[in-house]
Amino acid sequence: MSSISDAELLAAADAVAAHAYAPYSNFQVGCAVLTREGHIIEGVNVENASYPLGVCAEPSAFARAIAEGYRPGDFVAVAITASPCGGCRQMAREMGVDRVIFRNGGRVVTMTPDELLPESFDSTNLS
Ligand code: THU
Repeated sequence: MSSISDAELLAAADAVAAHAYAPYSNFQVGCAVLTREGHIIEGVNVENASYPLGVCAEPSAFARAIAEGYRPGDFVAVAITASPCGGCRQMAREMGVDRVIFRNGGRVVTMTPDELLPESFDSTNLS
């Protein structure tokens, strides 16, 4: 059980956003993933002069978590400093987080993956 609050998780995302590599958009994004045992794993967007190669903050954080040995279902929540793009909503869904916390304009929004991406594509649609 984790004692990290959603506000603390979002604060971690806010702080790590300063490490983003975003020289093309100048839009720095931070992401913080909370594991079920209370560990925070962070990521940032990493852009490239070949623009399509740029990586969002969310896959950056989740790839790090997966490389550490975590698996879908091991995550309680993910916090992002910006509203997650469509692809990153799909990733939150795949990773099985309970909730997604993000900044949108001046607001802080908390939604479930299903609210963010209703009727979503998943592995049960493959057969
Ligand atoms: N970005 C993210 O990191 N996550 C999102 O969910 C939305 C967009 C990044 C991609 C790009 O580096 C910058 O924000 C501007 O689009």
